[in-house]
Amino acid sequence: MMAHRQHVPLVPLCLLFLLLCPTTGADDCTCSSQYFCNCNSQNLTGVPQSLNSFLTILGLGNNRITTLDSDALNRYQQLEHLYLYGNRMTTISTGAFRNLEKLFELELENNELVVLRAGVFQGLGNLHTLELNINKLRTIEAGVFSSLGSLVVLYLHYNELQVLTPEMFQGLGNLQQLHLYNNLITTVHPRTFSHMTKLQYLYLFFNKIHTFDLSSVSGLTSLRRISLYNNNLTSVPQGNTAPHLPGITHFNMLTNKVTEISAHSFSGFDNLQYLRLSYNKISVIHEDAFNNLRNLREIYLNGNSLRLLDGQIFSGLGSLRMLSLEQNEIEFISPDALAGLTTLDHLKLEDNKLKVFPDEPISGLQVSNLYLQRNLLSSLSDMSYRILDRTSRVILHQNPWKCDCRMIDFRRLMRGRSFEDQIVCDSPVELHGSKLKDVPAGELTCLIPLITWFEVTNSGPMKEGDTLSLVCEVWGYKNPEIVLQLPNGKQVSSTLRQSQGRVQVLPNGTITIYDITQEDSGTYVCIANGIGSTERSLYIPEIQPKPASQVSLNTVHMSKLAGGILGAIAAVAILALLAGTVWYKRRRTQADEQVLVDNVQVNETPEAAGETSVNVGDTTENTTTESESRA
Ligand SMILES: *[C@@H]1O[C@H](CO)[C@@H](O)[C@H](O)[C@H]1NC(C)=O
Ligand SMILES: *[C@@H]1O[C@H](CO)[C@@H](O)[C@H](O)[C@H]1NC(C)=O
Ligand SMILES: *[C@@H]1O[C@H](CO)[C@@H](O)[C@H](O)[C@H]1NC(C)=O
Repeated sequence: MMAHRQHVPLVPLCLLFLLLCPTTGADDCTCSSQYFCNCNSQNLTGVPQSLNSFLTILGLGNNRITTLDSDALNRYQQLEHLYLYGNRMTTISTGAFRNLEKLFELELENNELVVLRAGVFQGLGNLHTLELNINKLRTIEAGVFSSLGSLVVLYLHYNELQVLTPEMFQGLGNLQQLHLYNNLITTVHPRTFSHMTKLQYLYLFFNKIHTFDLSSVSGLTSLRRISLYNNNLTSVPQGNTAPHLPGITHFNMLTNKVTEISAHSFSGFDNLQYLRLSYNKISVIHEDAFNNLRNLREIYLNGNSLRLLDGQIFSGLGSLRMLSLEQNEIEFISPDALAGLTTLDHLKLEDNKLKVFPDEPISGLQVSNLYLQRNLLSSLSDMSYRILDRTSRVILHQNPWKCDCRMIDFRRLMRGRSFEDQIVCDSPVELHGSKLKDVPAGELTCLIPLITWFEVTNSGPMKEGDTLSLVCEVWGYKNPEIVLQLPNGKQVSSTLRQSQGRVQVLPNGTITIYDITQEDSGTYVCIANGIGSTERSLYIPEIQPKPASQVSLNTVHMSKLAGGILGAIAAVAILALLAGTVWYKRRRTQADEQVLVDNVQVNETPEAAGETSVNVGDTTENTTTESESRA
């Protein structure tokens, strides 16, 4: 903290005025000249009244003075420095300093003051520094400081102030530093500081401020710092009108409760160089939030709740050197999210949830310090290698690297750079704990998807109109896509969200084909696409025609003839279909109408398979892979 204990040293002054060394004065005081008396730490309960009245410096610190009545200091009208720190003062009478018009510095810190009454500082027209920190101030009456037209530094930190109003600070037109940190401030009224046109430093950290209206400082062109860290702010301070804060180079909002950075949040801060927004709850940053911050050198967004970086949030930051995004929940960085950061040197992304190495977002940058440790990265590409290779400091450790075929290109580029030591395989199990640099490229393999079975799951003979249920069970890395190829060559994928009409292929391999026709017999192929692909086929033999009774009234009579002429009945049924039986058309989707037409054409020359029940026919397995496969 700002300790001010550099009181005028006794010994050198004593030597200087050797003759005066132990000199006139009360027994409790050591006066080294007619201008300076040190009465500190003497258990005094009041101001000594027998000292030289020409004193300019009087030390009364660390005594037991409880009150300062209005005449206590009358005798010492030449005082320039008065030290009353470390006493037990609870009240100061109005007018106690009224004759100290030469006083430059007044130290009242570390007392027990609760209230500052109007008029208490009356007469201190030359005061430069006033120290009121470490008291119990809850109330500052309107106009208390109105006689302090020369005051430059005001210490009010470590008190119990709760609300700040413009009336409290009237008359401080020369103030340059206002220290209000470590109070209990919840509310700062608009325009509280507006008249302090020379204010340079405004310290408001460690309070409980929940809103801060920038119009209370707007237009203060000398203002260089506003510290608002450790408060209860839920949004970045805004003003009614666009604030104008051209002198602010540092803005600190660390440890607040901001959830969102909206468009033009910092529009008044054209010369901002350092912006600290760490340890808030920021989950949303508007694309235009930082647009105007062309001079910003460092931005700290660590310890927030960001999940994805998209849009061109940072595109206006053409002078940025440091982008600190660690300790968020970032899963994804869009390819152009870091575009425009041509001067970026430090990119901190550690302790996030990145699953994919941000090749594209980083490839256009020239960072020399890249931090990616403790993410969920599993793979590195050849582009990743080129990025890491040109970066002087890389931290990558504690990611769950999968040392498989996807890393082959990266592995082949490895040439002993020091970052390579940090890549330790998490999987496959056989390589767990090995450094990637110690695994030959040939051992980086991928398991191709495996079709464990492909079968019909409904039993008994199938006839037209039935539902055909199949299962194609696939085991493989990263849930391979399942594609079903129908006998007519059409393919249906498990990754399509939309209904495929009669044919449904679910990601778990459950396949359903509704309302089957004879055309649905034939060879089905299940294809599993993962890293490489595998396929397996299944032959569905003949599907029985629909019993004539259900087809049309005309055929009811004929069905009774039955016997060995089933083929003929089927032919009649098909003719009925060709005639455009409404019964069918109503139940079909447009897409399937084409299938229906094909169906009829094929059935004009039916192939007799000679089987009535559906069995798994010849199943063939055919595998291909894009790279070396594990034996
Ligand atoms: C002040 O009082 C304390 C205890 O009452 C005593 O120990 C100390 O010596 C006193 N100091 C002086 C300078 O008298
Ligand atoms: C912070 O502000 C919220 C309202 O925005 C309030 O409910 C809460 O009590 C405040 N917390 C503190 C510590 O003042
Ligand atoms: C496949 O998924 C569907 C829908 O989610 C579910 O109804 C069905 O039981 C699953 N089948 C198996 C074999 O898990």
